[in-house]
Amino acid sequence: MARVFGLFVILALVFSVWMATGQSPLQDFCVADLKGQVLVNGFACKNPSLVQANDFYFGGLHMMGNTSNAFGSKVTPVYVTQLPGLNTLGISLARVDFAPWGINPPHTHPRASEIMTILEGSLEVGFITSNPENRHITKTLCKGDVFVFPVNLVHYQRNNGNTNAIAISALSSQNPGVMPVANVLFGSKPDIPTDILARTFQTSDEFICDIQKKF
Ligand SMILES: *[C@@H]1O[C@H](CO)[C@@H](O)[C@H](O)[C@H]1NC(C)=O
Repeated sequence: MARVFGLFVILALVFSVWMATGQSPLQDFCVADLKGQVLVNGFACKNPSLVQANDFYFGGLHMMGNTSNAFGSKVTPVYVTQLPGLNTLGISLARVDFAPWGINPPHTHPRASEIMTILEGSLEVGFITSNPENRHITKTLCKGDVFVFPVNLVHYQRNNGNTNAIAISALSSQNPGVMPVANVLFGSKPDIPTDILARTFQTSDEFICDIQKKF
């Protein structure tokens, strides 16, 4: 009986680790063959005998992103397309630069949680929980602080000061994806019909048209 229970506990542990990390790797690595013709979930593997150190490497994250845009922020991604060795590993990185008072507008990552640390400056960050609470969880972060944005939830950041701010984010996908709320609603191709958005936001078609023109 004790032995059966012990086996059950081990199986439960193995299963929970498997659930938490996705399926165990079946090989040391699967460097993305970015030009491959095979369509799989992720990228097909490059021939392991042709893999080089540079397949596991990305240089340049010390470089400031260009924040001269409407939002005053720039994300520099290090996802699988920038670093092919990330294929199948379920992790990635990004640098986010902010001009003074710049924003990273509300968005979601459909495939990743995000853990962010502040290297320079101060950020006001937040995310919103799902219905019916729609609780807004927000905090001001300073250099050295770390904050996590749970997978799929709408979140944003704003530089809270007159100097540039820099953050580094780790994400739990090789290809986190991003859905900026404004672009998704007002910049889809083709557009969501204006009257649907007007009724959604309880406002006029003209007001919606004005926003749609900006995206
Ligand atoms: C930054 O982006 C702006 C707008 O696209 C562009 O005009 C400017 O030349 C860029 N600056 C640098 C240093 O690349």
